[in-house]
Amino acid sequence: MLKTHEAGSLRKSDIGKKVVLAGWIDRRRDHGGVAFFDLRDSSGIAQIVIHDEETVHKLRPEFVVRVEGIVELRPDGNENLAIPTGEIEINVEHIEILNTADVLPFQVAWGLESKEEISDKLRVEYRYLDLRTRREADILRLRSRVNAVTREYLNSIGFTEVETPTLIRSTPEGARDFLVPARLSPGSWYALPQSPQLYKQLLMVAGLEKYYQIARCYRDEDFRADRQPEFTQLDVELSFAEESDVMELGDEVLKRIWALIGHEIKTPIDKITYEDAMNFYGSDKPDLRFENRLVDLTDYFKATPFRVFQAPYVGAIVMKGGANQPRRQFDAWQEWARERGAKGLAYVIVSENGELTGPVAKNISETERNGLKEATSAENGDAIFFGAGERESAQTLLGMTRVEIARRQGILDDNEYAFVWVTDFPLFKEVGTDDDVAVGNSKWTAVHHAFTAPKQNEMATFDQNPATALSAGYDIVCNGNEIGGGSIRIHDGEVQKRVFKVMGIADEEADEKFGFLLKAFKFGAPPHGGVAMGWDRIVALLAKTQSIRDVIAFPKLGSGFDPMTKAPAPITIQQRREAGVDYKPKPAAKSDAPKQQSESATKE
Ligand code: AMO
Ligand code: AMP
Repeated sequence: MLKTHEAGSLRKSDIGKKVVLAGWIDRRRDHGGVAFFDLRDSSGIAQIVIHDEETVHKLRPEFVVRVEGIVELRPDGNENLAIPTGEIEINVEHIEILNTADVLPFQVAWGLESKEEISDKLRVEYRYLDLRTRREADILRLRSRVNAVTREYLNSIGFTEVETPTLIRSTPEGARDFLVPARLSPGSWYALPQSPQLYKQLLMVAGLEKYYQIARCYRDEDFRADRQPEFTQLDVELSFAEESDVMELGDEVLKRIWALIGHEIKTPIDKITYEDAMNFYGSDKPDLRFENRLVDLTDYFKATPFRVFQAPYVGAIVMKGGANQPRRQFDAWQEWARERGAKGLAYVIVSENGELTGPVAKNISETERNGLKEATSAENGDAIFFGAGERESAQTLLGMTRVEIARRQGILDDNEYAFVWVTDFPLFKEVGTDDDVAVGNSKWTAVHHAFTAPKQNEMATFDQNPATALSAGYDIVCNGNEIGGGSIRIHDGEVQKRVFKVMGIADEEADEKFGFLLKAFKFGAPPHGGVAMGWDRIVALLAKTQSIRDVIAFPKLGSGFDPMTKAPAPITIQQRREAGVDYKPKPAAKSDAPKQQSESATKE
């Protein structure tokens, strides 16, 4: 090696040693005749002292240098106990410049705390410079340790890590596929996997029983802070398992991961049904770091004179101390709700003297006014917000209001983690209308995905009651983030076909698209189930960062663009020709024209 020691490893006990270090010039301080700089390598920084002025003038930030010198005690008063090497410095005997650096697009320093002033685009474009800061580099190290403890644990209990293909026939999981042209079959395309779902099920048919993979998944979706076009899952599947077995396994994995940051997860992690989650928290991914439940006032307002509350559902959420918000703040809440697709956000102010005020207070009856505090458990000085309309949309609005209230009250703490499994999801959800049904299409799609089993006790009836049937699916939620999801699967071809049928996929189309799965189910498929954890979201929670971009080595921007390599990019005419992207099928004879096919097995 070109060095004898790691810069960050030097301590008082090394005093007097002659060392050779190699790394980058981090922060630099000149004191007339003497220069100090921090030499940074991947282990940390050490302070270097140079007396030779001629050399000092040649050194610039981020030059790569090799330094020979003696480890010495820092003079009294010059210690920096905030860093591990803060008691020593290296008195240089010889310094060699290994490489120079241009002027940087932004400041780079190991200890840089805030990058707020650097644009996201610049950070992603120069990610290799962004990663020179400890905070960013530490996140990648944390991610590596998360992988390591997970592999160690799953291997120790008999799981096999298997790599599944990434050039596949599309596995519909609800999003759009990224497609890859097949040069050798002009006009045909591979898809990149949205997840290894069908392969892991086929591994169960193969008799592997316990599979996992830290798998890259690709979804051509609209991106958000918690979504990237390519992302990673810890993908797990096991045979002869019931819902509780998969959840217990998930608990154990999460427990080991969170132990890496010194946080103890109490297991078993709590469970809540989808129905309760919606009724109490207005979300299928409730943030349980705080309680504040929705109150169902549908019955309470069943004879109300107020037009807005004459709705299938009326609910409320109380904002503690919310009465003292100025009028324009309440107006801003209306706007906030409208931006989220609601008609408004009715409210009543409970004044310090107990009087109910605000525009809506006048619209409701005297009896309704008199009982409202008790019905909502509101106290003097609180504000009560209402959501009225269809149950799901009104509850969802109140659920968002619940979280926004907590955010404004500043009670959401990144150091706190509240986990919950959400269970008993509906099997199907309505995405179409009766008009779709009238023309022979289905209005139903799968809530999780088409391979999720109905609850055991509904096996005989689920297709007669698609609106109420429940699934053997579950999500794992942390602080309001969906960090994983899974289910017990269908392992019987007939049941699978019935689910497809509810979703409007006829047997013929099912055979065409999923024939390989249905065929496999005929050869002794065991009962099986599994889960996939959103690895990027999990590391983001551990690292207490708001964007999963920070936990991905080379992320993409919101538009899916990578400003560093400038991908996606146009291809040459030669490449187009070879890849066959412009291939036009020969006009087919009428009889064998391709049949109209529905777009995917889940239409989310
Ligand atoms: P699902 O689609 O719920 O399930 O995905 C599992 C978890 O992956 C994470 N995730 C994402 N993370 C970052 N960017 C994205 N675009 C993105 N999309 C999803 C979420 C999510 O909970 N095959 C099934 C799993 C199974 O049934 O076993 C599946 O993929 O945290
Ligand atoms: P309006 O009588 O339409 O002016 O509405 C009275 C109040 O109810 C206003 O504050 C609206 O923002 C609010 N509002 C209207 N529709 C709804 C709804 N579906 N849920 C909750 N609040 C609403």
